[in-house]
This record gives sequence, structure tokens and C-alpha cells, in this order.
Amino acid sequence: MALISSDILVAKYLLDKGEIIAIPTETVYGLAGNAYDPKAVSKIFSVKDRPSFDPLIVHTSSLERAKKFILDIPDEAYILSEAFWPGPLTILFNRNDKIPDIVTSGLPTIGVRIPNQDLTLQLLEKLDYPLAAPSANPFGYISPTTVDHVNDQLGDKINYILDGGQSKIGVESTIVGFDGKDIIVYRYGGITIESLEQIFEKVKIKISGSNPKTPGMLENHYAPRTPLKLVNNISDQLNTIKNNVALIVFQKKHKDFKDYNQYILSKSGSLKEAAHNLFVILRKIDKKDYKMILVERLPNRGLGIAINDRLSRAQVKS
Ligand code: TXA
Ligand code: MG
Repeated sequence: MALISSDILVAKYLLDKGEIIAIPTETVYGLAGNAYDPKAVSKIFSVKDRPSFDPLIVHTSSLERAKKFILDIPDEAYILSEAFWPGPLTILFNRNDKIPDIVTSGLPTIGVRIPNQDLTLQLLEKLDYPLAAPSANPFGYISPTTVDHVNDQLGDKINYILDGGQSKIGVESTIVGFDGKDIIVYRYGGITIESLEQIFEKVKIKISGSNPKTPGMLENHYAPRTPLKLVNNISDQLNTIKNNVALIVFQKKHKDFKDYNQYILSKSGSLKEAAHNLFVILRKIDKKDYKMILVERLPNRGLGIAINDRLSRAQVKS
């Protein structure tokens, strides 16, 4: 099992040696290694069992530091970084050749993020290299938001998990790129579309179900082992619900259904709280013997958009 502690010097020692470790971020835990070291990066792919065509994003502590490995910085990127970094936003830039091809699966662009997590920011400040880090879960499974999530699945494959407590946001970062003066959103995430629209006139959405360039956008991703179905209205499904079905509801339990099989995302109706709880609840349910998970679609606004996106990708396709 991995050693778990919040000592950034141990983290730095192992990373400097070329090892990979798990690090906390405000979105989800990452599986991190020196982004300049192809050997460390290849360990990330093998521990996650991730196909080599799925590029990694890198984490750094300031835009100034990112200049060492990215080419041009569009004005829009300065605006975005001022507004949202450190935070749950990944920006695609053109990269230089300090970043080995393996990191970006050969793409000329690289996803860069400055995470809003104190320990990890302190660690990044001390390192001479950025950290390549995908979510710290086996490829295709739900991302981890606690140390236990990481330890359960990867504990025997890595030596260290930097403990930063439960991830505050709970869903992955929003990924954006540029098309001239316009912003393109490639993945819904912790920064809402509404907050991007407050700053930019045009926010284009390019979320695809089958774009091989962004496998996080594959239709079957972020999935628990238990088959999951996202429904608009649970009341329509009540006759199909049996004892061995778990129900995830937004705010209130359904009277016509067994109390103990229902899981509430946020009693107060907060989408922020729902995002924070989502992966914890999915993993808890997945450890039990349910035959199926039914989830009620959340309001399609704010963080609800990212939550619905993850749930629809986690669904069994029929
Ligand atoms: O919140 C997050 O972004 C977390 C934490 C650890 O920072 N990381 C994360 O990484 O979710 P990962 O690898 O699980 O998801 C990153 C997604 C993948 O779907 C990948 O295909 C896409 O970003 N991606 C990475 N580089 C890209 C690029 N150059 N162009 C397009 N998509 C890219
Ligand atoms: Mg992932």
C-alpha cells in the first residue's frame, strides 16, 4: 500500500527521482510525474492502463512558469488566467519541444492548469518542472476525490499519496482552447459556461462524443462498474425499480421508494454541493451489490451541466 501523508518534501524527493505519485487538486486527485521526463510519463500511462493516444494535461504554479514550455500566449489566455487561475480551468496552448511527445500523444497543443490546492501549489513552486497529471483512476473509471479512492485502486502501484483532504470542487476542470477571439469549450467542468460568458462575447461549445483527440470526451467514460442510467424523471420509472436498484436524487428522496436505497446529492439544492458529493456517492454505491444505479438528471445550469455530462457518459449504452 502507498504511504499517505501531507509532506511535500517527500513528494518532491520521489518526483525528482522519476517516480510518480498521487497529488490532491481542488477538482480530483491526479497521478503526477515530471512532464519533461518521458520515462516518468510512460509510468503514468501504464499505472492507469491509459491508451497512448489520450493526451495528459500539465500542472504548474504560474503563467510565468508555463512560458518555459508553451509558445504564444493569446490575449484571451491572459484574461482567462487572471479570472480563473488558480482554479478548475485547463487552457490549451501550443507547446515547445521541452514537452516530450508522449505527454500530448503527439499533438502540437498542451493542456495547462494551475490548480487551486495549497499543498500542490507549494509543491509545484519547489519543482523545476511541470507535473503531467491525469486523474488518478484506472482508465475509464470514476475520478478520485479522496485519498481512500486513490489508495483503493492504485495503492499497490504507487508509493506515495500526498494527502490534501477531499477535493473541494469534485468534478474535473473545464477544458478550453481558442479560435481567434472566441473561446472553445472542449470539456464541461468546474468553471461554468455562465462564468465564461460573463467575460467573453462568444463561447463556442465543441463537446463531442467520439473525438479521438479528447478521449475524456468518449461516450463511455467516468463510469462505475454497476450499470448506470440517467433519467429525466424518476417517477416515470417507479414500476421498474426493485430492491437492488440504487437511486441518486438531487435534493429529496422519493416517498414511493425504499429510503435506504436513495442517495441525496444536496439537501439544500446546491449544485456546488452536488458536484462535491457526486463521485463519493457513485463510488460508495459501486462498492455495494446493486444491480443498477438510476440517477435523476440535474438542472442543466451552472455545475449541473458538468454533472449531467459526466453522468450521461457513465451510462450503459443500449
Ligand atoms: O481537473 C482535471 O483536469 C484533472 C486534475 C488532476 O487536474 N485532470 C484530468 O486529467 O481530468 P484527465 O487526463 O483525466 O483528463 C484530461 C482530458 C482528457 O480527456 C484528454 O483527452 C484531454 O484532457 N486533453 C489533454 N490534452 C489535450 C489536448 N492537447 N487537446 C485536447 N484534449 C486534451
Ligand atoms: Mg480522467
